[in-house]
Amino acid sequence: MNDIFEQVRQTIAQVQQEQPNNTQELEAYRIQYLGSKSTIKSLMEGMREVPNERKKEFGQLVNSLKQQAEEKYQTLKAAFDAQAEAASAVQLDLTRTPEPASLGARHPVSITMNRIIRIFEKIGFVVADGPEVEHDWYNFTAMNTPEDHPARDMQDTFYVVDAPGLLLRTHTSNVQARVMTSRKPPIRIIAPGRVFRNETISARSHAQFHQIEGLYIDEGVSFADMKQTLYFFAQEMFGATKIRLRPSFFPFTEPSAEMDVWLGTETEETRRLTKGTGWLEILGCGMVDPQVLENCGIDSTQYSGFAFGMGIERQALRLFNIPDIRFLFENDVRFLSQFSQVIA
Ligand code: PHE
Repeated sequence: MNDIFEQVRQTIAQVQQEQPNNTQELEAYRIQYLGSKSTIKSLMEGMREVPNERKKEFGQLVNSLKQQAEEKYQTLKAAFDAQAEAASAVQLDLTRTPEPASLGARHPVSITMNRIIRIFEKIGFVVADGPEVEHDWYNFTAMNTPEDHPARDMQDTFYVVDAPGLLLRTHTSNVQARVMTSRKPPIRIIAPGRVFRNETISARSHAQFHQIEGLYIDEGVSFADMKQTLYFFAQEMFGATKIRLRPSFFPFTEPSAEMDVWLGTETEETRRLTKGTGWLEILGCGMVDPQVLENCGIDSTQYSGFAFGMGIERQALRLFNIPDIRFLFENDVRFLSQFSQVIA
């Protein structure tokens, strides 16, 4: 009987001598003394053999053992944890210069787009919007380009396989149809946005790019109104003194034209941009085909109008002297951050 009392006293002495030096040794200590199969557990089970009159004394002894073992564990654990934390803590150097706060920048395409929008807003155009995933009807059919029309080949695009009749719009002209079918003239809108074509990606062209569309419908709108409006734009945007309208073809305008602005041949840059001619091609335009007005529910005997559409990327490349169109889509901060100083 004294045996088991003796065992407890020995274990107390043993616990007092234990000297775990690191977390692994501490864990071994915990398992030995405090775990579910520990020495102390089995000693406590010895209570059964102790006669009733000495149970209290035994209980106190075992409790003291347990307490000492537990306390030693907690103390050491706190010390080791603190050591580990200190070792992994970042060294804080309050004398260092802070990282500069970096300024965001507008994308060169947005800057160019905003400039164009602002010019047309001055003369009463308001911004309109249309979807990038579009019904065939708004993109082609309403714009006088029925399914078998050869002009569809020039604007091959991406079709939504699971939804026949849905495609990625090939131009912002879909907004013309959207606006004309939902509003009454007078209509004077400008519609910037992203368009898509099934094209090989190179330094000069990309399968996605941006356009701005313009549309003006009212009673008595003439070709002269179009010419004067576009001339105003060329002056504001390029400081151009001359524009030139060359006959062209679009299924949705009649007559149609291509507009060039005069940049001249004086500097090396203008010679490069205009291939030595002095003229830079900017946009397609024309009088809205009466058939398009009728397709959209507008009486072509009462109303007439003009429309134009231009690509943004080429103008952005010119404006900022960017050598490759792919820079505009790669989202490389080293490129984009160069525009933080530009007023949009
Ligand atoms: N949608 C034509 C294109 O993408 C441009 C255009 C718009 C031409 C409006 C005439 C009138 O090439």
